Amino acid sequence: MQQLANKRILLGITGGIAAYKAAELVRILKKAGADVRVVMTSGAMEFITPLTLQALSGNTVHHALLDSEAEAGMGHIELAKWADLLLIAPASANFISRLSQGMGDDLLTTISLATDAPLALAPAMNQAMWRDPITQDNIGHLIDIKGSKLYMFGPAEGSQACGDTGPGRMLEPAEIALAAADLFETGLLSGQHVVITAGPTREALDPVRYISNHSSGKMGYAMAIAARDAGARVTLISGPVNLPAPDRVQVIDVVSAREMLEASLAQLDDCDIFIASAAVADYRPLNVANQKIKKSGETIELTLVKNPDIISTVASHQPRPFSIGFAAETQDLDTYARRKLNEKNLDMIIANDVSLADIGFNSDQNAVTVFWAESQQAFEPRSKSSLAGDLMELIAHQFQQYRKDKAATSSQEQE
Ligand code: PMT
Repeated sequence: MQQLANKRILLGITGGIAAYKAAELVRILKKAGADVRVVMTSGAMEFITPLTLQALSGNTVHHALLDSEAEAGMGHIELAKWADLLLIAPASANFISRLSQGMGDDLLTTISLATDAPLALAPAMNQAMWRDPITQDNIGHLIDIKGSKLYMFGPAEGSQACGDTGPGRMLEPAEIALAAADLFETGLLSGQHVVITAGPTREALDPVRYISNHSSGKMGYAMAIAARDAGARVTLISGPVNLPAPDRVQVIDVVSAREMLEASLAQLDDCDIFIASAAVADYRPLNVANQKIKKSGETIELTLVKNPDIISTVASHQPRPFSIGFAAETQDLDTYARRKLNEKNLDMIIANDVSLADIGFNSDQNAVTVFWAESQQAFEPRSKSSLAGDLMELIAHQFQQYRKDKAATSSQEQE
């Protein structure tokens, strides 16, 4: 179910005994990496409490249409726009009937009318209600109107809570989650955890001064968005920048190189790919003054000490992620980049010429050459966001190859 990673599922729960199974459905969707928000009808709340679903989804449960406080938080139109999929499970006969008539008399029907997202219904009702020509007519009408935007998940046949046997049972939560996953394409990096460092670090001299560089974070943030769009779960460890946190990316803010190292190491247990695009200060002041340093003589001496090398530390860690560095060079790009690839024990290095004003630091454009053991590939100047998309394709390809080689080596070792 890797396709569900980062997907936004708006789960509508209507009144019926199968509503209790919605708790398990939320748990499975969350485990698959989906962001889940729940909307309940009044009937649903007779069968299961909003508190249970709030605890499992990690989000406030929505219920009332005319609630000014809830609307001020995330209103019904925002919820409708937010969803990648509106999944209604269980969908009662009454709800299906109201939906087919285009009613908007509660929050869930209103959202159903307002959303552009595909709609999936998992019906649950007594077998006689399901067989009733009116219910069948309502479903036929919905299929006619919604066409390819409507998906029917079930119902299943079998024994029912009321003692009857026949069609109308809601599919099991795991089956519904699988059917939902099938609606989304598999991204190149689906299910992978990608950790990216971005921006500059600041190394304090005293309470008001620091050593830093011109990195804006644009390249690293573009890489984070590209990894997210390729289906990965993304953690972005960011130095101080003036960029908004990308949607659906976990951002960890840090200031100094040592903080960036600590935040990076904390991600390594389940990190598949580590991309170091941050411009980390190589040195920091040996002593940080407690008070502002006073102006005195014509010159001032600073003693700097080496910072830890974050990407080298990550690349020698066990478990070791697929490790990618950037190289900021002003001359002999190929020689220096290949040297860093080897010395830092990296799988790939993305080199840019930072002596040019229109690419590299702070610009919206970049041009790079990517080096790895067997080969290299140049990318002509383009926007950082378009470049990041192309780089992510190459990274995903090299990562799959790395995984295959690793699996082959370990099976040879076992023989
Ligand atoms: O942020 P922007 O304004 O968009 O600019 C993008 C960029 C020019 C900063 C980016 O494309 C880039 O080149 N980032 C790497 C900058 C850098 O520090 O390069 P380096 O050649 O000094 O370092 C090589 C690699 O080691 C880098 O992956 C760096 O993150 C890493 N490193 C360096 C020092 C250190 N102490 N720890 C590290 O992990």
